[in-house]
Amino acid sequence: RSVRVSGWGSYVPERVLSNADLERLVDTSDEWIRTRTGIRERRVAAPHETTATLAAIAAKRALAVAGLAPDDIDVIIVATLTPDYPMPSTAALVKEAVGNTTAAAFDIAAACSGFVFAYATADSYVRSGLARNVLVVGAELLTRFLDFDDRGTCILFGDGAGAVVLSASPEEGGGMAGLEMATDPDGAYMIWMPSGGSKSPPSSETSKRGEHFIRMEGRETYRYATRTLAASALAAIERAGWTPEEVDLFIPHQANARIIEAVAKGLKLPMDKMFVNIHKYGNTSAASVGIALDEAVREGRVKAGDKLVFVAFGAGFTS
Ligand code: ACO
Repeated sequence: RSVRVSGWGSYVPERVLSNADLERLVDTSDEWIRTRTGIRERRVAAPHETTATLAAIAAKRALAVAGLAPDDIDVIIVATLTPDYPMPSTAALVKEAVGNTTAAAFDIAAACSGFVFAYATADSYVRSGLARNVLVVGAELLTRFLDFDDRGTCILFGDGAGAVVLSASPEEGGGMAGLEMATDPDGAYMIWMPSGGSKSPPSSETSKRGEHFIRMEGRETYRYATRTLAASALAAIERAGWTPEEVDLFIPHQANARIIEAVAKGLKLPMDKMFVNIHKYGNTSAASVGIALDEAVREGRVKAGDKLVFVAFGAGFTS
């Protein structure tokens, strides 16, 4: 079966946390953050919001664009590293929130690559005939897992959600043309949350040691990303039988503007082929490609029939 993106949507919380606000919390400067990362501000969820509530708003917007009723969806996949609970899945909560009574729902854990991994999974369900409509949501509430004493991480991340609906298409040739997915466990402890799982269950000691926050080796992660991303995008482009020049728009994971510039350089393409919105939201991990796709469509940067490349990397390392 041919596949098309029938719906798209995103949601970011109202509260803006600017670099100037961070200057008051931690030893940093707007100038350092802007020049090293490209980030100017990020969004922070309100106390009543959770990953599932952010996801549900983006999901409802995507369903509205698709013109589908909640029960038209056969499968719901949520990519997140900040689920509401270890169990049930955040996807189960999103299913209830959007009013769906029929879909199977599950989460995917691939950190910042989560949206792309979930998208590839959804495309496979529709293509194989196992589902007609699949809802994919990337959603994160990262600001609740940041150590605001660690200036190397707390300046990077923000909250938000992005969603798409993938549907069976009567037109030939739609859907994913080429895929390159990889996981490199050499990087398993480069970005991680040391406690809270079965190896180190939560306790007052783990909490006192700050082990429920995101920990990251920034330089190693940066090196991995710049080494991997252009190569990974090129492998997918070649599998599709395209050339990089033919691609209408790259929608990269928004981790660092310098990393996106390195992808453009690695593919010998101008920066106007790269969609960038990191200045507004920082790194929203699994939500970032979904939010960027929705904005790119709404800004008129993407139209039906365009050749797009989604490229991401994250904890695992995944790409
Ligand atoms: N403000 C001011 N100074 C800072 C800050 C800050 N917020 N953070 C670090 N510094 C200092 C450091 O202490 C260091 O000082 P020193 O030279 O006196 O020791 C100096 O700035 C340089 O530090 P580096 O860590 O080398 O800075 P770098 O240029 O590598 O930038 C950054 C750091 C932005 C984190 C970069 O390494 C990066 O973007 N890495 C990739 C991170 C990433 O993309 N993660 C995404 C995946 S996340 C996921 O999957 C959940």
